Amino acid sequence: MKILGIETSCDETATAVVEDGTKLLSNAVLSSMGLHAAFGGVVPEIAARSHIESITPVVKQALDDAKCTWDDIDGIAVTYGAGLGGSLLVGVLTARTLAITKNKPLYAINHVEGHIYANFLTTTPLPGYKLREKQPEFPMLGLIVSGGHSQLVLWKDHFDYKLLGQTHDDAIGEAFDKVAKILGLPYPGGPSVGQKAKQGDPCCFVFPKAKMPGKYDFSFSGVKTAVLRVAQKEIGEKHDFPSHKLSERLSEAQKANIAASFECIAVETVVDKTILAFEEFQPKSVVIGGGVAASSELRRQLSERLPLPIEYQDFKLMTDNGAMIATLGCFHAKLGQPTADPYTLDISPNLSM
Ligand code: KG4
Ligand code: ZN
Repeated sequence: MKILGIETSCDETATAVVEDGTKLLSNAVLSSMGLHAAFGGVVPEIAARSHIESITPVVKQALDDAKCTWDDIDGIAVTYGAGLGGSLLVGVLTARTLAITKNKPLYAINHVEGHIYANFLTTTPLPGYKLREKQPEFPMLGLIVSGGHSQLVLWKDHFDYKLLGQTHDDAIGEAFDKVAKILGLPYPGGPSVGQKAKQGDPCCFVFPKAKMPGKYDFSFSGVKTAVLRVAQKEIGEKHDFPSHKLSERLSEAQKANIAASFECIAVETVVDKTILAFEEFQPKSVVIGGGVAASSELRRQLSERLPLPIEYQDFKLMTDNGAMIATLGCFHAKLGQPTADPYTLDISPNLSM
């Protein structure tokens, strides 16, 4: 069974063909990230317009790379939420149109669930991929850490899961992006803050770890504000000093120490809760999804504190991609989940788990 996946929830126009929920046949992506860099974050209008330009060639590329014609495709899976409204509309309307004109079943996919399902891909004829050796086992603890999401989810089985906790404000990746902006480091902030942090002392500043009412919930807005206050204090200015002028006054050493101290606490926040959930639920596997999974600090802390080794998926499948949507689509099809109506499927920008 071959499923075409379509993902347009943020700034990546991404498509892929996946066979049987395990074999990656193609993975095409055009990102508009470069267009947003000057603004320090994704501009929804620009992202949506870029999807319109990219979607048709990217769908064609996924089919061509997989050496498939429409006759080979058994269904179409599309992200219908969560994400930016205008961006989601392009993917969903494309998928609806293709489902009707090519007469294929349509599967509506939750983007956040998709991030975890990228971990089910284990084989590919494509060069340049280092995939996991085996699929995760249930019960499976999923940690989703991206620019838009921070969630901890326990799966007993396919389609049988419980959201243990999530962020109450910013996502962890978003906090990295905002701290990068304060420090004058390039967007996306995760890699640039991580790089800068390597030259700094993680114990230089003590940033707060939020105490949440929910045992597995997170918050990152407090630490982001604390970074702002420390940066202002470091250059001897008050709270009303504009954040966009801070970076030119901070020395490289001050930036490195702030980056390292922030990174350490932000990562510790999610690792603490992951360990807590691991101890309570004793899952057979722990899987990570989302762009922040690239963080070497996250990997270091998890390997130090988790008694179970984590198999990381190829990074190209951790950030937003069509393959994770196609993979989950395969499981929808294989396990008889209801199909979506191609005449009425709507987007759900605030879709939760
Ligand atoms: O999963 P993703 O590509 O998109 C969303 O669904 O949001 O994640 C993007 C996020 C950005 O916030 C970026 O700063 C972060 O992942 N990121 C990292 C690293 N590489 C990317 N965060 C920390 N360390 C990294 N090395
Ligand atoms: Zn994502």
